[in-house]
Amino acid sequence: MNRKVTVAVIGAGMAGQAHAYGYRNAAMHPALSDVDIELSTIADANGELAESVSKRFGFTRAAESVDAVVYDESIDAVSVALPNFAYAEVIPRLIRAGKHVLAEKPLGRSAAEAFGFATAADAAEVVHGVGFSFSRLGAIEAIETLLKTGAIGDVRHLSAWYLTDYAATEETPFSWRYDKSLAGGGAIVDVGAHVISVIERLAGPITRVLAAEARTVIPARRIPAAAIVGHGRAELTSHTAAVTTDDVTDVVTELAGGGLAQITASRAATGFPNSLGFQIIGSEGSVAFDSVHADEFQLFQRSTAPAESNGFRTVLVGPEQPAFGYTVPMPARGVGSGYGSAFVAQAQDFIRSIVSGSPIANDFWAGYQTMLACDAAQLAAAEHRPVDIAELDRTHRRAG
Ligand SMILES: NC(=O)c1ccc[n+]([C@@H]2O[C@H](COP(=O)([O-])OP(=O)(O)OC[C@H]3O[C@@H](n4cnc5c(N)ncnc54)[C@H](O)[C@@H]3O)[C@@H](O)[C@H]2O)c1
Repeated sequence: MNRKVTVAVIGAGMAGQAHAYGYRNAAMHPALSDVDIELSTIADANGELAESVSKRFGFTRAAESVDAVVYDESIDAVSVALPNFAYAEVIPRLIRAGKHVLAEKPLGRSAAEAFGFATAADAAEVVHGVGFSFSRLGAIEAIETLLKTGAIGDVRHLSAWYLTDYAATEETPFSWRYDKSLAGGGAIVDVGAHVISVIERLAGPITRVLAAEARTVIPARRIPAAAIVGHGRAELTSHTAAVTTDDVTDVVTELAGGGLAQITASRAATGFPNSLGFQIIGSEGSVAFDSVHADEFQLFQRSTAPAESNGFRTVLVGPEQPAFGYTVPMPARGVGSGYGSAFVAQAQDFIRSIVSGSPIANDFWAGYQTMLACDAAQLAAAEHRPVDIAELDRTHRRAG
């Protein structure tokens, strides 16, 4: 008899819709062939939005309240795609109700919140994951394997970025993202968390933030006349609110292996709608990636040819990578996958973990680790001093 996993999504905005897409296509993974994935509920305080997303992605019903998910015993697994401030209330309730939880990034507003979620989820023995969707791309999977097998030797230094332009002009209205008490941070937690999670996966943990600088380039934004979804626009009122989160943060960090990592997070990157990328420089070679070309990366290896005929080569990701092969309709090299595949792969990993106990790639502890780096970057920028990750970690463990 098939095993059934019933799923719900709380928050029907930009990220919630991507999770709904992921669940809808998750059954493409052969390891899930005997699992019935039931698409139950889309919950959002904006009832009209919940209704339309539920219909568009084939879920059974829409709800305006989180209670509809928490108290529904038929629901096994829940994606949380809410504004960062709402996690503190919603995630503990879901865990107490015994639900498996896949939370969006960042995991709350701080490492302290993330630590609380991870501890509670472990104690309740539920599966927990964080939506570091970029790390689910086939190219990132392939680069991870290459690096583990020593393809570029020891990582000496790297440069990484997440550049996006959603906050590049004053036309983008004020929202929870621009208020530190609601978001926990600006570019550093919103997009910085993504690139930090990718770098930590590929090159090992960040142990120390050596220096950081943060800037808010647009200090006040106009209040919208209506609710906005994601980074959307709306008619603006004449009232403004102060922006208390960073638009741009530059960080220099040290990695556990001794290498240096320079990371830029910007939501005001004019001309760069959405680019997560890096150049990782090793002792034997280097690797470069930009999510704008999500199915390929550049690889240089000293050993492959004499200097006069050597150089970077473009590697196209193909069906050997599960995040590619089990997420696209035509699994052939050159056909292309993209960001949708990352959300499908993420849903597949979450459901596999629920039905078979296989480890999930980014659990709440990985989310906590990333929040430690984000907190350290904010502290280093505010106090103009280096910050040790182990020291922050000890503080949370003592308090927890
Ligand atoms: N992985 C990614 O690529 C990605 C992309 C965008 C956003 N995110 C993350 O997803 C989360 C949500 O971001 P978003 O852009 O989708 O936000 P959003 O503002 O578009 O949507 C949030 C939704 O939550 C609803 N909501 C707010 N409080 C609620 C509550 N208490 N109960 C029920 N519904 C409530 C709102 O009505 C809104 O529709 C954030 O943590 C963000 O960092 C991740």
